[in-house]
Amino acid sequence: MTTQLGTRLPLIQGALAQISLPPLVSAVSNAGGLGVLTTVGLTPATLAAAIAAVQAATTQPFGVNLMLQQPNVAELVPYLLAHPVPVVTTSAGSPKRFAAALQAVGTKVVAVIPNVTVARKMAALGVDAVVAEGMESGGHIGTETTMSLVQQVTAAVDLPVYAAGGICDARGVAAATALGAVGVQVGTAWLAAEETPISPAYKAAVVAAGDTGTVVTGRRLGDAVRSLANPLTAEYLAAEADGASVASLHQIVDGSLTRAIAGDVERGTLMAGQIAGAITAIEPVKAIVARLFPA
Ligand SMILES: Cc1cc2nc3c(=O)[nH]c(=O)nc-3n(C[C@H](O)[C@H](O)[C@H](O)COP(=O)(O)O)c2cc1C
Repeated sequence: MTTQLGTRLPLIQGALAQISLPPLVSAVSNAGGLGVLTTVGLTPATLAAAIAAVQAATTQPFGVNLMLQQPNVAELVPYLLAHPVPVVTTSAGSPKRFAAALQAVGTKVVAVIPNVTVARKMAALGVDAVVAEGMESGGHIGTETTMSLVQQVTAAVDLPVYAAGGICDARGVAAATALGAVGVQVGTAWLAAEETPISPAYKAAVVAAGDTGTVVTGRRLGDAVRSLANPLTAEYLAAEADGASVASLHQIVDGSLTRAIAGDVERGTLMAGQIAGAITAIEPVKAIVARLFPA
């Protein structure tokens, strides 16, 4: 039995900017889910190397994420058309310009969506599936909660819907399925995976976080991001409340994900979702997958 995405399990490893690189992607694909490569900061040459590294480590299907706010998307799409991958996931925009071309070379296109209006647009575009992502999620978020969003999206579109936001174990998968989803996309839980290439300090901060441990910055600029509360988010939120200029807000967070990945838990943006409070140990990917989908 395989899913429509060619995987054994209805599980997508949500792209993690600068983090979901070959070690995590191949581990998830080998465990039966769909590992998804981030392309944030990659060029066609470094993407080629990352894809080769995934293919050297797994024979299972994997995906490549295009974060549509990224300036490199225009360069990466021609590469993915010439060198097709099993799945492309898109986020933070519409894949209108290239979805049909990717499908024509055999790539499944899965769009991450924050509300019913965008889900309907993606259905009209003919994507293969959508990920309905609630605002509990880590990283860039919309405004709707997973519980409300997933049932409205599954009612609105005749497409496979994967639920994302606040899922880390079989209870979350059961809830998503009850709301009509065919499967789940998980992000935050992988931050505590042994294979994930981030500093031990970032992983430890996710494990230490409680249920109220995240905050949302960037709402004023229309680019809301959920991450673990720390001195950097406190400074940002104070500046936002004080009406600081766009340039000075950008300056606070410039390079801050890179700092988090390197282990700066005070001045880094440790993107993570509300479910971080339920993550209590650093474990191999296989164990995380087994908790989501017990044998
Ligand atoms: C550290 C981090 C980075 C993320 N980066 C991306 C990204 O580059 N592209 C994307 O589509 N989603 C990104 N996401 C969202 C995830 O793919 C996923 O949809 C989300 O984490 C699911 O919710 P959860 O965090 O509650 O599991 C990111 C999430 C986190 C936690």
